[in-house]
Amino acid sequence: LGNGELKTWNGKKDEVHSTISSTSEYSKTLLGTVPHMDEATALEVLDHACKAFDKGKGTWPTAKVSFRIKCMEKFVEQMKTKREEVVKLLMWEIGKSLPDSEKEFDRTVEYIYDTIEDYKQLDRNSAKFSKRDNVNAHIRRGPLGVVLCLGPYNYPLNETFALLIPAVIMGNTVIFKPAKHGVLLLSPLLEAFRNSFPPGVVNVIYGRGREVAAPIMKDGRIDVLALIGNSKSAIALQDQHPHKNRLRLVLGLEAKNPAIILPDADLDLAIAECISGTLSFNGQRCTALKIIHVHEDIREEFNKRFAQKVDELKFGNPWEEKVQLTPLPEPDKPQYIQELITDAKEKGAEILNAKGGQVSENYIFPAVLYPVSKDMRVYQEEQFGPVIPIKPFNSIEELLDEIADSNYGQQVSLFGKDIEQIAPLIDTLVNLVCRVNLNSSCQRGPDVFPFTGRKDSAVGTLSVHDALRSFSIRTFVASKDN
Ligand code: G3H
Repeated sequence: LGNGELKTWNGKKDEVHSTISSTSEYSKTLLGTVPHMDEATALEVLDHACKAFDKGKGTWPTAKVSFRIKCMEKFVEQMKTKREEVVKLLMWEIGKSLPDSEKEFDRTVEYIYDTIEDYKQLDRNSAKFSKRDNVNAHIRRGPLGVVLCLGPYNYPLNETFALLIPAVIMGNTVIFKPAKHGVLLLSPLLEAFRNSFPPGVVNVIYGRGREVAAPIMKDGRIDVLALIGNSKSAIALQDQHPHKNRLRLVLGLEAKNPAIILPDADLDLAIAECISGTLSFNGQRCTALKIIHVHEDIREEFNKRFAQKVDELKFGNPWEEKVQLTPLPEPDKPQYIQELITDAKEKGAEILNAKGGQVSENYIFPAVLYPVSKDMRVYQEEQFGPVIPIKPFNSIEELLDEIADSNYGQQVSLFGKDIEQIAPLIDTLVNLVCRVNLNSSCQRGPDVFPFTGRKDSAVGTLSVHDALRSFSIRTFVASKDN
């Protein structure tokens, strides 16, 4: 790791050698390469996955529960020996700080153990009796087929595995494509997959989506598209499938989670939570707070103190101690954020913090924008980066209308003290989004909680418990009890 010279940017295809190189944006060194597959190779991979599933007759979908558990346990034991390598790659490839990289690895290991436990408890042998008809249903849970999994760059290990692990343990066979930024990250684990699962159960493809994932979808043998990322990619891939009506979807997509700061909110707490909510991993989280609605009565104090706190955050390289903001893995992100800032300023917003919008090579310091209005791009788009729009409100009813009108519906953070008074507000908010965080920022974890969203934010539910269900179907044997 870290040897070699700068040759290409992250994820760039080398036409001559048919490889994709991953270069650290931070050290400017070549970290490694993976093969760039062509369409024919990708379709060969699909053949392997289909052969292992064999339309449901294969050895993996029909394997005993104990065998699948044994394979998964073997895998996670081997995975643990690769912690250092994977953590380093998380820092070097996508710029995640050391503690966050370690957390991502450890959280994933825990996720696998919890999945194994949940799989053991699954309602696979329950029975339902219809007294009227004197029929017993012996209920099972079966796999769905061949799954194409695409993970995002912000959690290239954890979220890829949040799809792959439950899909595999339920008896599906899987083809996964690592994210462009973080393409090497799973390489240290490929051997563990090979050692732990029968051939064809876990497969990997490398390359541009349109060159490897699209042909696989076009072939028509994919049963499930599982993707965490943006809806544009999800729609483009779905559109390739010749039998869209039978394609199942498990999707984690965009969100524009709002924070609502009520007049009686504990401002110290609200500010601390909004800092981590908006800026953990530079705001590159689907669960990040992407807009703050602050009540007119307290907005002056909130804005002043919040802007000050943002300027106190420490920017540095991922391996530096106590670093809170790190360089961005997407080279064009600073320019995009700058465009949002310029647009907002042209339409009447100001940058509240002194350092806001300062640009270095591959970073832009978070800008706190106020007052933001509906006509601004930063209000309409999921910024997925370091820029924080703040919008004032007076009427909670109007704010609820606004949240209800959004195309997204993942989570909300609500800050206020009088719980009795805000109870009806919570009752409405849970019908607009899928999780209301009381006096805390939005987040996916703990992984045993359901993770999903309404409208354009998700299809299906993830989490240790729900993902096993998302990647399976209930089947049963009916028999008359004589
Ligand atoms: O990008 C979306 C992730 O699911 C966020 O996960 O809330 O644990 O950071 P997190």
